[in-house]
Amino acid sequence: MAMPGPRGIDTLRRVRQLFRDPSTALDGLHNSYGPISELRLGLTRIAVIGDPTLLHEMFSMPAESFRWGHKFNMVGVQFVVGKGSMIVSDGEDHHRRRSSVQTAFTRRRLNAWIPMIAARTDAAIDRVTRSLGTEPIELDLYPIGRKLILGITVHAFFGERLAERADEIGELYERPQQFIEAPAVKQMPHPLPFTARSRVRADGRAIAAIIDAEIARRRCQPTGDPFDVLEAIVNEGSLTDAEIRDQVKTLIGAGYDTTASVLSWMLWCAALSPGVWLRLRAEADEVLGPPAAAVTEPDPGTLAKLEYAGRVVHESLRLHPAGLVGARMAATDLRLGAYRVRKGTLVVWSPHLAGRDPGSWRDPLRFDPDRFAEMTPEQKALTDQAWVPFGRGPHMCIGFALAQMELTLIISRLAQRLDLTPTAGETPHPVGMVVNRPTGGAPFLVSARSGT
Ligand code: HEM
Repeated sequence: MAMPGPRGIDTLRRVRQLFRDPSTALDGLHNSYGPISELRLGLTRIAVIGDPTLLHEMFSMPAESFRWGHKFNMVGVQFVVGKGSMIVSDGEDHHRRRSSVQTAFTRRRLNAWIPMIAARTDAAIDRVTRSLGTEPIELDLYPIGRKLILGITVHAFFGERLAERADEIGELYERPQQFIEAPAVKQMPHPLPFTARSRVRADGRAIAAIIDAEIARRRCQPTGDPFDVLEAIVNEGSLTDAEIRDQVKTLIGAGYDTTASVLSWMLWCAALSPGVWLRLRAEADEVLGPPAAAVTEPDPGTLAKLEYAGRVVHESLRLHPAGLVGARMAATDLRLGAYRVRKGTLVVWSPHLAGRDPGSWRDPLRFDPDRFAEMTPEQKALTDQAWVPFGRGPHMCIGFALAQMELTLIISRLAQRLDLTPTAGETPHPVGMVVNRPTGGAPFLVSARSGT
């Protein structure tokens, strides 16, 4: 069966809207054409899929059915992360690059980062509380959270020394991150100087120089630190230095903006839903100890005990996944449900649509962390299929466990130490094609927790 979709001038309008206001465009396509639709612009075909059953079918297909090193990724993403990045690789190259990084993502290593994440979060909150007076003041917590998460990401992967340069690294990532948010036409390759592209190229070289120096240092003077991810990748031995550099560039780029945007959404949802902040606080007081003291001896069990916070994270990711869409290209003619997807079609799959699918979620637009505590096995099977903020299959997010760990610990500690009053009565409209964040950030009236 052919896929339904707009024709003529309406197609152009919807494609432009997909870049300018992706959530409205996705909801519009879904309302007009249902769970799968096709946009045809000349020879280019884009299939937009939000139906959980079709997504499950797609994620279960063999890796060879799709390509990630396709022409749309090459113009922007590959230019920013490098052609050796796993994110734009296929086949054996993807397998080798991903496996090498995967060896560094052991559960033992993740658990070892808990004290560091808690300490960095407390330091960021200390900076906030020092700026507060007796009255609540309005603060945008989005840039504060973003800086915190960048510091955690750099520290976790590349050690404390490089974490000291996190601000400098963050500055260098600003332009590249904005570049991949721009419409594809603005990302087209050209060699002209004094343009957005040439400035992004220069930033990329500066990032590469920092990473190359760290790789060289690991080769000459290994730290011996069993938790140093870069050293683990270097020692694993199957990647060239250029490939290692591209994975590192990718891990930083893919790791902090995404997690920071979810943190902002989560703050909005938790602060606007009656009782959520105080429940987070009560749980954190019990598990993490008194708010005024450093978190003592957090351990692997700590995270499991932050059960309610885990559900708040899960629910935030359902309603506000960091990427409203992911994309891959059909490498052969495919069949998804009753529909034919032609070779060369850009398959745009949407965790945003799946996370709001009325057939899978009761009252889907309601923020309700407890929905995950009360499911029958049938509901659980249905919602497992529809909860895909990290994707599934061979390119599933490699940082999913780290992201959830960070978000759980950060929201718990924030709830323990700060009082927040939202500056608006509802969550803002989303903005961003690659990373979905709240328009206007996360401004709240902030004060130190009363009674501390
Ligand atoms: C809440 C935060 C995050 C979300 C929602 C998220 C989501 C995603 C999604 C949807 C994909 C694409 C999956 C696909 O195409 O099938 C992805 C890929 C990826 N993510 Fe994340 N991510 C997050 C955080 C992180 C973190 C913390 C890291 C690492 C530090 C990371 C590293 C990566 C990498 C390297 C890939 C590419 C994997 C591959 O191509 O094999 N992400 N992520």
